[in-house]
Amino acid sequence: MNAILGIESSCDDTSAAVIIDGVLRSNVIAGQKVHEAYGGVVPELASRAHQQNILPVVSEAIRQAGITKEQLTAIAYTRGPGLMGSLLVGTSFAKGLALGLGIPLIDVNHLQAHALAHFVKESEEDEVPEFPYMCLLVSGGNSQIILVESPEKMQIIGRTIDDAAGEAFDKCAKVMGLPYPGGPHIDRLAAEGDPNAFKFSKPHIPGLDYSFSGLKTSFLYTLRDALRQDSDFIERRKADLAASLQHTIIEILLDKLTLAVEQHHPRHIAIGGGVSANSGVRKAVADFCEVRGIRAWIPKRSFTTDNAAMVAIAGAMRLTPDYRGDLSLPAYARTEI
Ligand code: KG4
Repeated sequence: MNAILGIESSCDDTSAAVIIDGVLRSNVIAGQKVHEAYGGVVPELASRAHQQNILPVVSEAIRQAGITKEQLTAIAYTRGPGLMGSLLVGTSFAKGLALGLGIPLIDVNHLQAHALAHFVKESEEDEVPEFPYMCLLVSGGNSQIILVESPEKMQIIGRTIDDAAGEAFDKCAKVMGLPYPGGPHIDRLAAEGDPNAFKFSKPHIPGLDYSFSGLKTSFLYTLRDALRQDSDFIERRKADLAASLQHTIIEILLDKLTLAVEQHHPRHIAIGGGVSANSGVRKAVADFCEVRGIRAWIPKRSFTTDNAAMVAIAGAMRLTPDYRGDLSLPAYARTEI
């Protein structure tokens, strides 16, 4: 039996998952409500919550997988990028457990794990993408177009030069008085609104890079000007504001994806990261691919946000019979793919 434990603690979700002989057996995620009151993740509070959650979450993942920790054959953990205090909790725990059990430890790049999330199989029959494929990785910290050539060979061909798509959702939602994280609230409200009610500015930067800071400013100014005339403006028009904002973010994402497809001609396109849970983004990418005869990989919502299943599979794809791992590797807060 090949049983791989994945551990993820890069931001504000503590997660552990077990993959046995290539099939996911458990994926436990403990979120952190504590940050809601602050309108964003507070790093020190995140580390403390990870410290509290890590043991119960790992124990529960092993229990749900129907094995004991002694039956684990390897441990994969997120080494970075992320919040250093948060990463240290998962990294230290993974190292201690691997050392105690005498099994290999596999360091995983969190961004690569998002791009490989489509390889998580919940049953033997599940299909997986073909290499090479293109991945649109859109989260709270990243907006990237990646060429995924193999589990370890990835090339970022477009990236954000300022805010990430998730930040655009969250910051605009905050201006509307919605709770953090605002992305899911915008998604819900957008379903009731008119996507063409308002026009917000789109970036004009060359190449495949993204920019979302201009959109954020344009959204802010629209609200500020309208509120001068009508103090009830946001409440009255919140669905239209959400729908128009979401529509603009999707247009920005797809404009660059179109350019990337014209340059690289992928046969498969995958999406990943928290923003890939957005109903509008999912539908737009599926439609975009369908008209071009490209196979679209839209992840289940449970694999869009941070989760250990993707870390376990990224580790599993690197595990060879002679793999030993390196217990001395430090966590890293910043890196590329
Ligand atoms: O990948 P992720 O869990 O972690 C970070 O990179 O932080 O992504 C979190 C981001 C947040 O910005 C959140 O608002 C956004 O994903 N998000 C959504 C939706 N669900 C999560 N954005 C738009 N629509 C959603 N349904």
